[in-house]
Amino acid sequence: MDQKPASFILLHILTIDLLHFLWFLRRMRIGIYPGTFDPVTKGHLHIIKRASKLVDHLIVAVAPNAKKAPFFDQRERVNMVQEDIDNLHDKACPIVVEAFDGLLIKYAKEKEAACIFRGLRAVSDFEFEFQMTGMNAKLDPEIETVFLMASDKWQFVSSSFIKEIGALGGKIEDFVTPQVAAKLLDKYAKNP
Ligand code: COA
Repeated sequence: MDQKPASFILLHILTIDLLHFLWFLRRMRIGIYPGTFDPVTKGHLHIIKRASKLVDHLIVAVAPNAKKAPFFDQRERVNMVQEDIDNLHDKACPIVVEAFDGLLIKYAKEKEAACIFRGLRAVSDFEFEFQMTGMNAKLDPEIETVFLMASDKWQFVSSSFIKEIGALGGKIEDFVTPQVAAKLLDKYAKNP
């Protein structure tokens, strides 16, 4: 009986593993959660946790969004989101945080994303989100937008309110993680 050398069998197994891996990569669902995150809130983190259960790989994409004149620069916002995600215990898939510039849909295409996640809080979010989704769908109908309703606990939270409350000496620790609260307070102290 012809005996296959061990190296042949090993090569065979490695080839099958590689094919499985490539097959998994092709099927891997990538999701993008874009936003300004100025700063990231516990409401955003709740959406991130839930989105991580729906895809195999999640990218949290931090936009420059100059028209909002952000309080934190883009690098600071990326770092704050990254630190919060590093401390997130119940994430269900790998999550990476990236800065992006330019058109969201182009970025999503480059990343081979299957979907874009957006959080919806009140009815007032609807009109803007509806228009943005419509435009993005026109630009690339292959990439779906998936809406996750913010839970009632985070319905009224917004980054602008948190900044305003913090600037006026109110308590913000219920809405952002301790590291974000510290960075906000530090920034107010430096720019009174
Ligand atoms: N919990 C708490 N707050 C939430 C929230 C949640 N689950 N979901 C949204 N928010 C708040 C944010 O705090 C933010 O509040 P603020 O306005 O007071 O700062 C507001 O809702 C919306 O912010 P965010 O979710 O960060 O999104 P955004 O509207 O700032 O970001 C982009 C929009 C970046 C996705 C969009 O401008 C974009 O795609 N830009 C790229 C350019 C482009 O492609 N343009 C064409 C679009 S068709």
